[in-house]
Amino acid sequence: MADNSLSITDNRTGKKYEIEITDDTIRAMDLRQIKVNDDDFGMMTYDPAFTNTASCRSDITFIDGGKGILRYRGYPIEQLAEKSNFLEVSYLLIHGELPNKSQYDAWVNDVTHHTLVHERIKKFLDGFRYDAHPMGILVSSIASLSTYYPEAKNLDDEAIRMLQIHRLLGKVPTISALGYRHSLGLPYTYPDNEFSYAGNFLNMMFRMVEPKYDLDPVLERAMDVLFILHADHEQNCSTSSARAVGSSRTDIYSAVSAASAALYGPLHGGANEAVINMLHKIGNKSNISGFIEGVKNGEERLMGFGHRVYKNYDPRAKIIKELAYQVFEVTGKNPYLDIALELEQIALNDEYFVKRKLYPNVDFYSGLIYQSMGFPMEMFTVLFAIGRTAGWAAQWLEMINDPETKIARPRQIYQGAEERDFVGMDQRD
Ligand code: CMC
Repeated sequence: MADNSLSITDNRTGKKYEIEITDDTIRAMDLRQIKVNDDDFGMMTYDPAFTNTASCRSDITFIDGGKGILRYRGYPIEQLAEKSNFLEVSYLLIHGELPNKSQYDAWVNDVTHHTLVHERIKKFLDGFRYDAHPMGILVSSIASLSTYYPEAKNLDDEAIRMLQIHRLLGKVPTISALGYRHSLGLPYTYPDNEFSYAGNFLNMMFRMVEPKYDLDPVLERAMDVLFILHADHEQNCSTSSARAVGSSRTDIYSAVSAASAALYGPLHGGANEAVINMLHKIGNKSNISGFIEGVKNGEERLMGFGHRVYKNYDPRAKIIKELAYQVFEVTGKNPYLDIALELEQIALNDEYFVKRKLYPNVDFYSGLIYQSMGFPMEMFTVLFAIGRTAGWAAQWLEMINDPETKIARPRQIYQGAEERDFVGMDQRD
């Protein structure tokens, strides 16, 4: 019996099987040989939320949820947030290494030369109602990009693939800002490539009639760091969606649009918006203990807390909490900060949360920053999406280049009716 194997005895038949273990993992397909008879389909695993199933091999992001560690391509998130910038981090995620000076300059040039969107996109946006949720606008606008760049279907051409990534990184902030301005009925602001990536985004969002947007460097840096912190998070719901949709060999825009649709949900990127709604509902500190009781008896959920992977403080939440104080120096303190701090203190010391290892996640404090910077709540998930676009692109590219990639196609346990004959309507009860 090999050391790196798993011995399985099927007590239904008494048969024994040796399954190879690689990287602390067994291949689900190796279980298919386990059958009770020749007609048996063979054993499968049942893992409805992929809680214990690795769907790919990846070199991009490492998380140790127990220790609260997050690294992109080996670099600790704390160092990247302190020393890098979003475009450099995007390069790192997509190309695998930090760029040298000329690679960096070329990359910035390539991305910023794709910040403009086709004028027709503005007409497309005009079709949305004034109160359309910006995430709905984003999901559809990203999908619409595939109609402007049909060559994106050519997945085998490396240069074409990279061009679409430049376009995505360049255009997603522009589309996001256009969607926001559409909702307010404001004239669209064109990109200004003299600003940094984050600075240009703030310019497109908030510039009014002034000839040049007066960019605050603290807010610019905060925006950039928030993009870095959201840039990737291995096989989360949206990234898995990008990979699953992309595995059918659709173009990157369709795959990233699907990813942003997954991000929209309140259990994923929608949580930052849900946190502010929760703080608003709590209203003041005297209502916190009643709210916590509601959480413990299942009537409420403490949004911005808990994570499928982190069973420790989310390292991004730590950085964001510090960043919040820097932003509040400029914008004034967010009135909900005190409620959030007290909620955190109570939750970190309460047995319900301690026992379940529930800690603040990336969304707990980010909404407070966004709100203080002047973003409406509906835009919060869009901000998450702008940063995560880099990760979706990197993961999509890795999936396309992986020889083990096949179309994603899970199995099911069928538990419906056995075969039966069709009954005409006149004979149905
Ligand atoms: N408030 C109260 N109880 C919670 C919470 C919470 N935020 N999160 C988990 N629990 C409880 C849950 O009820 C369960 O209790 P019990 O064992 O008694 O049934 C236990 O903790 C384990 O939770 P789970 O639901 O099995 O955990 P999960 O891995 O399926 O869910 C999660 C992870 C993030 C969806 C969940 O923690 C949650 O809903 N959090 C609030 C929403 C949120 O902040 N989402 C952002 C996640 S981070 C950014 C991102 O991924 O987009």
